[in-house]
Amino acid sequence: MSNTETFKIIAMDGGAAVGKSSTSKGLAERLNLMHVDTGAHYRTLTHALLQTGADPAKPETIPSALTRLELGTTLQGRSAKLSVNGTVPADADIRSPEVNAAVSTFAALPSLRSFLFEYQRGQSAIARDRAYAGLIMEGRDIGSVIFPDADHRFFLYADEATRTARRAKEGQTDSIAARDQMDSNRKTAPLVCPEGAIQIDTTPLTLEEVIETITRLIQPA
Ligand code: DC
Repeated sequence: MSNTETFKIIAMDGGAAVGKSSTSKGLAERLNLMHVDTGAHYRTLTHALLQTGADPAKPETIPSALTRLELGTTLQGRSAKLSVNGTVPADADIRSPEVNAAVSTFAALPSLRSFLFEYQRGQSAIARDRAYAGLIMEGRDIGSVIFPDADHRFFLYADEATRTARRAKEGQTDSIAARDQMDSNRKTAPLVCPEGAIQIDTTPLTLEEVIETITRLIQPA
């Protein structure tokens, strides 16, 4: 059977530090999926735009700044990374305090979101071409906007103390609650639990338990 018949799209949404990335990467490994972190897309564009001196407080300047950015895809293991003008920025650069502070403001701009829409939808063709069994895409609006037609849609959440502790363990200080509030209250594609998505509270669970729970939901015994 070719993968066109069995290819699965899995949408993984949730707020900051709920465990989306580790869970998505673990599931990608377990189920032979291509992994895409769309938070990294917003971080990469924020980093590129900050370098050009773009100011999110002047949204009218953003569309022309975006025309100078050529988007590409580079596979690093199972993770497809966004390149801008031929380069995938270093993780340290897209997770810097400057990017942490600005990313939610840039991500609220409709021009930036529509700039990424086709690119993100197009990742499924790349995963199919590379013969993966499917695509797992994580973010805030994957099950609501990018792939409302996904085969499986999950929404992860966890209490704030757990999320802050998880970020600190990664060596990051990040105002998670402030970002979530901005991401949830913006007009375009806010952070919401998509209707019909399966919600999972990751607070009391280990990473392995989250991966196991989701695997059973995707592939019932
Ligand atoms: O997952 P993350 O913390 O790396 O995401 C960084 C920011 O990008 C987050 O504040 C909200 C934004 N984002 C978004 O608006 N839509 C997505 N699909 C993914 C992330």
